Amino acid sequence: MLTINGQYPGPTIYARRGDLVIVDVVNSAHQNITIHWHGVKMRRYPWSDGTNYVTQCPIRPGQSFRQRMILSDEEGTLWWHAHSDWSRNTVYGAIVILPPITQPFPFPKPHAHLPILIGEWWKGDVQQVMEEFLGGGGEPHVSDAFLINGQPGDLYPCSTQDTYKVSVEFGKTYLMRLVNAVMDNIMFFKIAGHKFTVVGTDGAYTKPLMTDYVAISPGQTIDLLLEANQPPSQYYMAARIYVVGGEYVSTPTTAIIEYVGNYTVPSPPPLPSFPEYNDTAASADFTSRLRSLADNVDVPKNVMKNLFFTLSVNLSPCTKSACVGTTRLMASMNNLTMLLPITTDILHAYYAGIDGVYDSNFPEFPPLVFNYTEDSIAKNESASEMATAVSVLEYDTTVEVVFQSTNFGRGVDHPMHLHGYSFYVVGSGSGDFDATTDPPNYNLLDPPLMQNIAVRRNGWTAIRFRANNPGVWFMHCHFERHLSWGMKMVFIVKDGQRPDEKLLPPPPDMPRCDTPTLR
Ligand code: C2O
Ligand code: CU
Repeated sequence: MLTINGQYPGPTIYARRGDLVIVDVVNSAHQNITIHWHGVKMRRYPWSDGTNYVTQCPIRPGQSFRQRMILSDEEGTLWWHAHSDWSRNTVYGAIVILPPITQPFPFPKPHAHLPILIGEWWKGDVQQVMEEFLGGGGEPHVSDAFLINGQPGDLYPCSTQDTYKVSVEFGKTYLMRLVNAVMDNIMFFKIAGHKFTVVGTDGAYTKPLMTDYVAISPGQTIDLLLEANQPPSQYYMAARIYVVGGEYVSTPTTAIIEYVGNYTVPSPPPLPSFPEYNDTAASADFTSRLRSLADNVDVPKNVMKNLFFTLSVNLSPCTKSACVGTTRLMASMNNLTMLLPITTDILHAYYAGIDGVYDSNFPEFPPLVFNYTEDSIAKNESASEMATAVSVLEYDTTVEVVFQSTNFGRGVDHPMHLHGYSFYVVGSGSGDFDATTDPPNYNLLDPPLMQNIAVRRNGWTAIRFRANNPGVWFMHCHFERHLSWGMKMVFIVKDGQRPDEKLLPPPPDMPRCDTPTLR
């Protein structure tokens, strides 16, 4: 398996708000790799964003690349992961960002920080799993286990003695830093016998939210305060998939919270009871209760650019010789399946002014207006267009994107993620978005600031941001299979007028593409 410094999960990076962190990535594996700092805005410096064929060509075996992780206003938890093929399955770790040394947390100082990374495990080689999946065009095989900090937990028969354990002292408060690093599933997370307080998500603080469960999307982070206030004993913390459809028997992945002290260890310890695996309301409700810590945040009030993106899974004709005449699953936004370039990356093409790598005409609205959430719509099931297209934004444009999830078959959630920015989630609902009646209900006072938002199945979500970070920024569904199928696009944000509104120059060791020839 592919690991970083021989560790799985990889090392946690501790930093403070405003730090510059320099990471030397040395590829001593036998495959290409890129590393992405998920949620770090990288102001004016997309060169270190680490997105394969979007901001760089891959680091080849034997090569190295010095990446600058430029922290600005992020505070809380973020994470890093591979951003080439499916390598992120084993190549990831947490980024813990503390307040500047002279500044307090907006809550009593926690006794300790506990990174909790929810992951996923295949017994086989992930590269092979991916190739079989992309060749076949169906749903990927369900993985063999989910993990907490690299261990499935003792409900899986193979791993009892390696179950991850954390010890706590009665009366102390711990800051748990939850990361969902799984490939294709939103997860429910609970702790037996305890309630907790959510205080942050995606590297920004939230109003304190008391709850006994969270729903966390792939890519998302959630910070929660856990008070060790129950009778000293052992308790399970556990994560289980939320998924719509299918007959899922899914074993929760577990870790153990063990209080310090003398007591009889319960056997087995109590297990939390979860919402049903297909409980869309439980998943969407949790997310819709998140609020920014501050009131009157700087959410753009006047939108200069309105974008409306439909998120669809499509049935497209299979083009491989083995399957001609049949159809396969693809995914699209506004019916466009984005193909990444293969000869050079988009950032390099943009910066160097190389023509012919991408088109600047990503559709701002879907080609057809239809009832998005009605079952089995002909348009939805038809083939998508395929192109390497981007959307170009002038510096400082205020943007609203409404994501509309469409219904192919049963419809699924889509955890959408934007690089280079945080955005305010100003509204969401089930069914079709209504441009007349929905916007008056937006929350423009204290919407949560996020970088990942699960757009619920057969529903919509509206986000707003100000395009004041010049560069080339990927936006995609963080379900790895949907990303592979083409549910992705790129924003190019142009330079502003002032010197501090322009891209910084690239570093000298930027990984180069093998073939300088362009298609
Ligand atoms: Cu977790 Cu494109 O990123
Ligand atoms: Cu998706």
